[in-house]
Amino acid sequence: MSEKFKAVVIDNQNEKFTREIKEIDISHLKDGNVLVKIDYSSLNFKDAMILKDGGRIVRKFPFVPGIDFSGTVVESQDDKFKKDDKVILTGFRVGEAYFGGFAQYAKVDANFLIKIPKSLDTHKSMMLGTAGFTALLCSFAVKAKEELLLGEKVKDVLVTGATGGVGSIAIMILSKMGYDVHAVTGKKDKNDYLKDLGAKNIIDRKEFEGESKLLEKGVWDGVVDTVGGASLTKILAQTKPGGIVALPGNAGGIKINTNCMPFVIRGVKLWGIDSSGSSIKRREFIWNEAAKLIDFSKVQLFTKELSLTELLDAYPKLLKGELFGRTIVNPNK
Ligand SMILES: NC(=O)c1ccc[n+]([C@@H]2O[C@H](COP(=O)([O-])OP(=O)(O)OC[C@H]3O[C@@H](n4cnc5c(N)ncnc54)[C@H](OP(=O)(O)O)[C@@H]3O)[C@@H](O)[C@H]2O)c1
Repeated sequence: MSEKFKAVVIDNQNEKFTREIKEIDISHLKDGNVLVKIDYSSLNFKDAMILKDGGRIVRKFPFVPGIDFSGTVVESQDDKFKKDDKVILTGFRVGEAYFGGFAQYAKVDANFLIKIPKSLDTHKSMMLGTAGFTALLCSFAVKAKEELLLGEKVKDVLVTGATGGVGSIAIMILSKMGYDVHAVTGKKDKNDYLKDLGAKNIIDRKEFEGESKLLEKGVWDGVVDTVGGASLTKILAQTKPGGIVALPGNAGGIKINTNCMPFVIRGVKLWGIDSSGSSIKRREFIWNEAAKLIDFSKVQLFTKELSLTELLDAYPKLLKGELFGRTIVNPNK
């Protein structure tokens, strides 16, 4: 099949980093055994770092970024997929080591794909994208306290980075699960938005700055911490006995500083979340639950749709914390 298609191509020649929309031939897609015509991709924190300068993640250039996409199978050399299947891809180092979703076509390994559940479509699945998938993984980690570990009922759940992609969708899911969600934000003008998503209470990010005791009064049954860094010290010290802290992110820093007490005195569990390496079985479970827990008409209100050209203007805003909500990318726009 010889056909040209549009893609964002990043390059790093002679120490000059560039990003352009280019036409490339399908024959240049060498990895994988399933060719997908992409309907949508989405802009995530990691994509923005890669679009800026490769983010010390992409090692081979020229390269097509985009860590997630949804679309339709065009050709498959694997029995699991056939022409016209609707599929989702998130992670598995696509958009990092293998050509990704900021393009009209991608070719990937069949073991990286799942079929879109009947309750979703290509648009809805990228309204969630990696951020929504991660928010679902985090929310089920918190729910495991009562369901898997047979602990006490979850009541109060803290969500940090509340106005971000992962945080916003986690608020929606956790409130739908019936929990009281306490949203931590640095943005004073977003209270109505967070309440509308289902947050019961809004807390200023500053409350988690400064010194923490080894243990503080336990207030959180569960936490979804998308920020990490210094504030995690106080969060762990404030988690109730048996509480679960799901940690997907590091928007506020990579280093954490804690002590043994929350773990050995209260049995607090720190549950690392890696959406990229999740098993196919877990992906199928999570994506099948999505439609029960997500109000897509609400997500639509904070979702923007951009063309590939508009994407190249928008990604710096995400890095500066100026873009809020979800951004889906339509390569055919
Ligand atoms: N482990 C995984 O599989 C996985 C998957 C997806 C994302 N992630 C990570 O999860 C994090 C959130 O992703 P996202 O897509 O939600 O990003 P995002 O849309 O950029 O949101 C991040 C939010 O964090 C808060 N924030 C930003 N800088 C901060 C700082 N210096 N200190 C404290 N809070 C800060 C802001 O919320 P407020 O203004 O409301 O406080 C911001 O909206 C990122 O680190 C991302 O790399 C991990």
